Amino acid sequence: MQKAARELAKLAGWRRVPGPHIWPIVGNPAALRAPGDLIGFGEGYWHRYGDIFRVSLFNRSIVVLAHPNAIKYVLCTARENYIRGSVYASTRRLIGDSVLTLEGEAGRARRELQQTAFHRGSVEKLVTQMVASGARHCDALAGRAREGVVAIDAHREMARLTLEVFVRALFGQALQGDFGALTDVMEVVSDGANRFMLPPWVPTPRNWRWQQAIASLDAHLYGLIELARKQGSDDSLLSMLIAARDAQGAPLEDRAVRDEVITLFIAGHETMALTLTWLFALVGRHRDVLPRMQREVDHVVGRRDPRFSDFAELQYVRQVIDETLRLRPPVPMVARDVVDHDAIHGYEVYAGEIAIPFIWATHRHPDFWADPLQFDPDRFEGQRATRHSSWSYVPFSAGPRACLGDMFSLVQTVLLLAQLLQRFELQIEDCADVKPVMMLSASPRPSRPFRIELRPRRSG
Ligand code: HEM
Repeated sequence: MQKAARELAKLAGWRRVPGPHIWPIVGNPAALRAPGDLIGFGEGYWHRYGDIFRVSLFNRSIVVLAHPNAIKYVLCTARENYIRGSVYASTRRLIGDSVLTLEGEAGRARRELQQTAFHRGSVEKLVTQMVASGARHCDALAGRAREGVVAIDAHREMARLTLEVFVRALFGQALQGDFGALTDVMEVVSDGANRFMLPPWVPTPRNWRWQQAIASLDAHLYGLIELARKQGSDDSLLSMLIAARDAQGAPLEDRAVRDEVITLFIAGHETMALTLTWLFALVGRHRDVLPRMQREVDHVVGRRDPRFSDFAELQYVRQVIDETLRLRPPVPMVARDVVDHDAIHGYEVYAGEIAIPFIWATHRHPDFWADPLQFDPDRFEGQRATRHSSWSYVPFSAGPRACLGDMFSLVQTVLLLAQLLQRFELQIEDCADVKPVMMLSASPRPSRPFRIELRPRRSG
């Protein structure tokens, strides 16, 4: 069967995927460095072997794809053959069966059920809540300013800020007195989910803390679900999930609501915190960008609270976010199990391999981007209509399994930036040396903490 398939492949002119020599048992020894620097590892091979290459990591054969056409093929055209299988096993242990981990018909049905919660109209309803939480956090920061200045650790503070805003958008009125205890435990879970961890049965202190946090999170979540069912609908994501019905008119059971809530949190929190963190790191090196953003915020929003309609008007702020997501995509690669022997972009791949759309590389591919390594928000000017159709720019992935929270996170990021820029002059520490570091299963974090000084602006 295998032989026949290969004969067929030869006749069809399928080519062999290039890559370093793979030795029996050890694979390619250079790959042992990969877990400490996945991006650098991938980029090195991309420059050497081109837009598709094969490596072996932890005894798995991996085909990495940097060309937009190959990415489109795997994530859209032939998606039934490229599934979120074994590589999502550890995620499944935490989040169970959710829109992120379900495949086939079950995955489609779950996604359909949730789509209304993420429509433009639903996101608009969340804005009042988001802006109120953002204002609370920014005002507390202003209160901390001694002698007129408060210095923050950029990543840590953005993680707290997005946590506060996100948790309130998720749970709305059901939250009440739970806020502090819940955010503490969610911080531990988010951190664990975004780090490389040994399997849960290995008795390390971090594993133990994480398991405790999940148990405590579950207790909180089931309590909140019960309360939200009793209280009836508000504009939170939780109540939208509870109100959602499948094609047969059936609601989600508590366990499924729990799985979806954790999924939204894990998918959304760290990604949004890192978008803001990297934006500041990049902007800090381009001194003209921040004043331009601030002028736009002053012109569009002034000193009032931002509202949903400002999102469309804050075009330059949005361009800066788009450019940040191009150069520092919080999800720089996604992974799929290859189900059946196939060819991607004319190159032969085998059942059981892992295909990795390497978003990071596509976003800096010289065939698709002029001066690709240059941070230049103006490259997105006037490209609103085309920006999401091109497979060379896929920070939220694309196609039928693209990010559900893209609109939510863009609106939230734009409005949070407006709130910060309204209130503070920002002095960002020189961070030319800050590099993105990505351990296995994590998003790229800054190689060292960097500070931002916030000086409250005078009103009037
Ligand atoms: C800048 C922020 C974000 C980025 C860059 C991002 C990126 C992505 C990417 C690349 C995927 C596809 C993963 C894959 O195919 O394996 C994804 C999926 C997903 N994201 Fe996001 N995300 C962000 C924020 C959010 C937020 C805030 C939420 C929730 C409120 C969210 C919810 C989801 C969900 C539910 C999925 C799974 C969709 C499905 O499989 O049908 N994301 N995200």
